Amino acid sequence: MKKVILKIDKKNIPIFIGDHIITKIDFSKYIKGNDVVIITNKVLAKLHLDKLKKSFKKFNLNTFVLPDGEKYKDINSFTKIHDFLIKNKYGRDLTIIAFGGGVIGDLASFSADTFLRGVNLIHIPTTLLAQVDSSVGGKSGINHSLGKNLIGSFKHPEVIIMDTSYHKTLPKKEFVSGIAEVIKYGIIGSKTFLKWLNTNAESILMKKKEYLVKLIYASVKAKSQVVQKDEKESGIRAYLNYGHTLGHAIESSKKYKGILHGEAVSIGMTFASFISAEKSTLSIEEFNLIENTLIKFGLPVSIPHNIPCAKIIKHIDFDKKKKQGKNNFVLLNSIGKCYITNSLDIKYIEKLVKSFQN
Ligand code: NAD
Ligand code: GLY
Repeated sequence: MKKVILKIDKKNIPIFIGDHIITKIDFSKYIKGNDVVIITNKVLAKLHLDKLKKSFKKFNLNTFVLPDGEKYKDINSFTKIHDFLIKNKYGRDLTIIAFGGGVIGDLASFSADTFLRGVNLIHIPTTLLAQVDSSVGGKSGINHSLGKNLIGSFKHPEVIIMDTSYHKTLPKKEFVSGIAEVIKYGIIGSKTFLKWLNTNAESILMKKKEYLVKLIYASVKAKSQVVQKDEKESGIRAYLNYGHTLGHAIESSKKYKGILHGEAVSIGMTFASFISAEKSTLSIEEFNLIENTLIKFGLPVSIPHNIPCAKIIKHIDFDKKKKQGKNNFVLLNSIGKCYITNSLDIKYIEKLVKSFQN
């Protein structure tokens, strides 16, 4: 079992990574009182909940099961969770377990941060995306009808358990979507890691456990280092948004249907790398390595032709990371060396979006 420690304020958050580790964790170290509530969804409840429950035999355990889907990461589910917690008269010594992908993680952690002004939280992420990205760094939240993740907070857990055995049941498309965020850590932080991903794409796609543990460990270490330096995203945490300006615009244009987050980010990362090669000092060789790695994993690198360019531009213009009326793009000087610019002309972006459509 591998371990990363995320140091935030005065808190040391252990992150355990390994295969079939869930039964090996002594949860009593991370639970204050006797009450534990697992928040999960119907898919996870059917596949993995019975086994997980065995780890909490010592505690007064309850479960709250939501329907599956991004559309349930909303104020309605948030209210239902609070209704459940209030009706069951839980106190501040409650521990909430977020058991699922990023949707459950964001919703359950926001509930843990707001119920009685904050109770204990444990993350058990079950998708690759949730393991390498959403469960690390404390961003919690729900969607508003006017936009994604517009309501939320920073809430860190007591511990995060990343068990690679959950990947066996994860649909391939979801797994590959998570790989896009893993590739991102290579692009923004380490050419060696990016090359390793490129060389080992086949074994990774076969979900070989030693490869999964290695890539999750490298990703979690990379994200932890960034978050430790800039928890509230006033500086370098924004590098984690590499490819996300266009990625989010594509997702919004498609109303979050028919394209997964990682797929949209993959297109966005190719786009940002192309701009970096045109406007900055990213070499063609490094651009090719980035694009080729994404392609090797079956990720898309061009914008679907059926999304009108005007829609994408409108959404880039509304990007919530926009500062003082200008759009921020994270670009590369070279692999591992990012910078942020707000000086890209929208007409230039529009022309490029058109040329990127397949
Ligand atoms: P998700 O939570 O919807 O999970 C994807 C699908 O896989 C769902 O149908 C889910 O039921 C299913 N699933 C989960 N684990 C499974 C398993 N082990 N076996 C079989 N099926 C399984 O999606 P996601 O990609 O994990 O997360 C996306 C969400 O994460 C978005 O809401 C996004 O905004 C959020 N996010 C948050 C952060 C953050 O920093 N907090 C970062 C990135 C993304
Ligand atoms: N997923 C980007 C971040 O956590 O900041």
